[in-house]
Amino acid sequence: MITPSRASGVIGRSVKVRVPATSANLGPGFDTLGLALALYDELVVAAVAEPGIHVEVTGVGQGEVPTDGSNLVAQAVVHAFEALGQPVPGLRLQAANVIPHGRGLGSSAAAIVSGIMAAKGLLEGIVDVDSHTLLRLATDLEGHPDNVAPALFGGLTIAWTTSEGPSHKRLLVHRGVSPVVFVPSTTLSTKLARSLQPASVPHEDATFNVSRSALLVAALIQSPELLLAATEDRLHQSYRAKAMPETDTLIRMLRDAGLAAVVSGAGPSLLVLGSDPSQRLFAAELVAEHSVSTWRPLMLAVDLKGATVNPHSVEAQV
Ligand code: HSE
Repeated sequence: MITPSRASGVIGRSVKVRVPATSANLGPGFDTLGLALALYDELVVAAVAEPGIHVEVTGVGQGEVPTDGSNLVAQAVVHAFEALGQPVPGLRLQAANVIPHGRGLGSSAAAIVSGIMAAKGLLEGIVDVDSHTLLRLATDLEGHPDNVAPALFGGLTIAWTTSEGPSHKRLLVHRGVSPVVFVPSTTLSTKLARSLQPASVPHEDATFNVSRSALLVAALIQSPELLLAATEDRLHQSYRAKAMPETDTLIRMLRDAGLAAVVSGAGPSLLVLGSDPSQRLFAAELVAEHSVSTWRPLMLAVDLKGATVNPHSVEAQV
């Protein structure tokens, strides 16, 4: 039974969270590798005495995503409070979204991570939430850790799951690595993309991806000149190509031109990992020349910090 006195510790508190976009898989690293990108959703959450959950959304998703307790950010805040054994207070959320939805840039991971980080901030001094717990709470909701790990911790992350839950290793990316994402106007749900995966794959293809994903870690942290060879994949992109035909066509064209192009996450955006900044401009020229529909290029730095949470005062808003 939740008593007002138990919930009162957080009431009156307000926090501001910032969470980066992410690109998962990076070609061969299916459900394992992820990169944080400098494009951010922001969230303010206030814990109030009046029960209930109210959400305001501006920017991406405004007028589309739910504004009650079924909102994904709100669900994440509630999940964290409950999993940490804390009574859920009344919640007022203001989300300012920039990360495109349904494009393979980790918008659902960002929503989940922002809610978990808000709960961590609201519970500061009441419950200590370590990085392992943050990753576990976020993965509970996302289902796989490859987007939530870089959204939480920044940089390049390797994520894996054991019987104890998800773990991660964060790495710093070589400064030559120059990402550019091309975002189409169409969307693709991760659920649909995952439904196109076969239940099993040939051993030869598994071996192919093991070698490329091992090489990709070396390419990203030390040897960007190996990025083209290191971003080949046989585990997911070909199976999903029919759901995003232009993505597939453009990736083939870019790779033929020597650029390390891959599907970003579950797509349909595509990611080029340039080995130096000039490759981004080259990629943008090629996409503009060869595309049929409109693709928005986003030349993004690698985010190094991951999600942040800070106390927020009403005065800070004006
Ligand atoms: N690894 C995930 C997938 C990323 O490709 O399905 C998208 O959530």
